[in-house]
Amino acid sequence: MNPSTQIDWDSLGFNYFPTRSMYRMDTDESRQWQKGELVPFGDISLSPAAGVLNYGQGAFEGTKAFRSAQDRVVLFRPDKNAERMSLSAKRLVMPDIPKATFIHAVESVVKDNGDYVPPYRKGSLYIRPVLWGTGPVLGVRPAPYYTFVVFVTPVGPYFKSGVKPLKLKMTRNFHRAAPHGTGNAKAIGNYAASLYPLKLAKEAGFDEVLYLHAAQESLLEEVGSANVFIIKDEVVKTPKLSGSILPGVTRDSAIRIAKDILNLDVRETDITIEDLVTADEAFCTGTAVVVTPIGEVTVEEKAHTIAEGGEGEITRQLRKHITGIQKEERSDPFGWIYALN
Ligand code: COI
Repeated sequence: MNPSTQIDWDSLGFNYFPTRSMYRMDTDESRQWQKGELVPFGDISLSPAAGVLNYGQGAFEGTKAFRSAQDRVVLFRPDKNAERMSLSAKRLVMPDIPKATFIHAVESVVKDNGDYVPPYRKGSLYIRPVLWGTGPVLGVRPAPYYTFVVFVTPVGPYFKSGVKPLKLKMTRNFHRAAPHGTGNAKAIGNYAASLYPLKLAKEAGFDEVLYLHAAQESLLEEVGSANVFIIKDEVVKTPKLSGSILPGVTRDSAIRIAKDILNLDVRETDITIEDLVTADEAFCTGTAVVVTPIGEVTVEEKAHTIAEGGEGEITRQLRKHITGIQKEERSDPFGWIYALN
């Protein structure tokens, strides 16, 4: 029986579920890409000396396909993910993937796994492109050859609570990324480093960790899996892309919608802890989390409530606009939607 027919679309969370196929492309030993193809979804064999296993030479992306109100399957801004993959590849000395190849790979996998795209309004097909150093290394150096894979899995909300406002724990014990480090790349190591702070936060009853800037510890940086925004007196602020912040696709989309559709004043700037705890609204953005309100943030053991612990009106508007464009319930003034034929 086709496993996609076994999925309970009403209880999707953000969990891995195997699908039919994935796209795979490898380089030769001179880092030149060979022809990629769809292969059955499954395990991959690697040398124990692979660059990715020993020195973390890997980067990933996250984007989504939706079954839309027009009853077609659409992608949301895959070109931005392709651009960021190039940035990550350069930073980690991996071969670049041409934008057209990246988008072709994403389209091919989504088309071949079309029956895994959740029904309209039941979730989305999460698309995970990953690039890593496959070739063996012993000394610290770039791997001699590379693999690019795109796999997909149907998902619902990232947090168990859906879009219920998040409880964050601000940490002074850990940093997510350092100035001039790899924070602006989607390097796999950034996420490995976030696991221990996240474990501690979850054990203490929080949803996520809020990190501070590593060099200026009075300033906000990011939430482990998402960018952060605040709103005060209808001014929308998010930390500026100073090198250690991930240039999020949903971050960029929220900025564009806030400016061009909601006609709000948007500032990419420094944000202090005081700005956050006195904000009218605060929220996180990311492909996985979309736009999720922040209802409470705990700073040095003191819990501060934001937007009365609920969702502010501007946050709600931004989420409605983004998800409305993604599902073709609203017009797409920015040309963000790629329909699959
Ligand atoms: C995404 O939002 O797609 C991400 O890549 C974040 C990930 C840690 C779930």
